[in-house]
Amino acid sequence: DKGTYPFFMLKEIDEQPAVIRRLVSTYLGERDDYRFDPQLIAKMAEADQIYIVAAGTSYHAGLAAKQIVEEVAKMPVAVELASEFGYHLPILSKRPFFVFLSQSGETADSRQVLVKMKELGYPSLTITNVDRSTLSREADFTVLLNAGPEIAVASTKAYTAQITVMALLAKALGQKLGTDDGKIDLRSELSLAANAMQTIVDNKEAIEGYAKEFFETTPKAFYIGRGQDYFASLEAALKLKEISYIQAEGFAAGELKHGTISLIENGTPVIALITDQATAGLTRGNIKEVEARGAKTLKIVSENLAESADQLVLPAIASVLSPLLTVIPAQLLAYYATIQRGYNVDQPRNLAKSVTVE
Ligand code: F6R
Repeated sequence: DKGTYPFFMLKEIDEQPAVIRRLVSTYLGERDDYRFDPQLIAKMAEADQIYIVAAGTSYHAGLAAKQIVEEVAKMPVAVELASEFGYHLPILSKRPFFVFLSQSGETADSRQVLVKMKELGYPSLTITNVDRSTLSREADFTVLLNAGPEIAVASTKAYTAQITVMALLAKALGQKLGTDDGKIDLRSELSLAANAMQTIVDNKEAIEGYAKEFFETTPKAFYIGRGQDYFASLEAALKLKEISYIQAEGFAAGELKHGTISLIENGTPVIALITDQATAGLTRGNIKEVEARGAKTLKIVSENLAESADQLVLPAIASVLSPLLTVIPAQLLAYYATIQRGYNVDQPRNLAKSVTVE
C-alpha cells in the first residue's frame, strides 16, 4: 500500500531512517553485543577472505561494504558481479567465505554462484529482504534486511539496509577476531546517519529544484567521486539511468581525464560527491577541470568539507559510512528527474523487480 505517496519509490526512500534504526535495534544489543548467529560469526572468522557476490544495486552495496569490513574487521573482501564470477572463477583464497547480497533472494545470476560454491564446499551467507527466498534457503546462513517489502523496481532502502547490515556484521566479526580498533562507534554513527537521512528526506524541495535545474532536458550526466564516493556514484548513476533514461555514468573522479572528459560539453551535468577528507582537494580539482570544459556542476559535500558554493551539504558521519547519506539525494534526484520528464517512477521500461533468468 502506497498510503499517501504517489509512488512506492518515494515511500521507500522515506522509510530509510526507520529501516536503519530497526536494524540497529534488531542486531545490536544493549551491551554492544551483536545478535547474529554465533555459528555464523565463527565461520566468518575462520575465513581468510570474504567474497561478496551480487548484481546491480546490491553489487554497489557490496562495494561500499568491502571498505567497511576491511576498515573495521581488517579482513580482506572481494566484491564480485554474480553473472561474471560463476563462469570465470578467479583463483580463490584458501578459506573463502561467501556473502550473497540480494534484496529479493531470487536473482538467478547470484544463485548459480551459490550452487557452485556449495558444490565446492564453501560456507555461505545470504543477506536478503525476503525470508525463505531461494538464496536464503540454499545458503548455510541467512541474515534478514528487515526493510519491509520493496515494491518499486528501483532499489533504494535495500541498498542502505545492506550496507548497514554489513557494517553490523563487520563489527561482530572484528569483535570476534579482536581486530576492531574501536575507531568507529557504530551505534552512534548509525544513529547520526538515520537522523541525517531524515533531515535530507524532510527537505526534498531543494533536491526537486536541483533535479529540474540539472536534469530536465539533458541526454547524459556524470556522477564523480573517489573511494566510497566513487562507489556511491555508481549507484547514483544507476538510479538515474534506470528510471529517468538519462544516460548516466558513475566515474572515479581521477579517471575522467584519462578519456571520459572528452564527453563533457557545454551544460553537461556533473554531480560530485565529496565526503572523504583525504581526497576532497583532488576531487575539487577534477570539478574545476570539467567546469573549464563547460560542465554544470552540483556538489554534494559533507559538512566538515563544505565550501560556500557547494549546493547540497550533508551532516558529517564516519567517511567509510558515507554512502548511506550520499545515496539519498541521488535517489531523490533520480525520482524527481523521472517525474519531471514524464515517466513512471515505479515501473521503468524493460525492467522487472526480480531477475530470475541468467
Ligand atoms: C536496481 C535494481 C537491480 C537489483 C538487481 C539485484 O535498482 O533493483 O539492479 O539491485 O537486480 O537484485 P537483488 O538484490 O534482488 O538480487
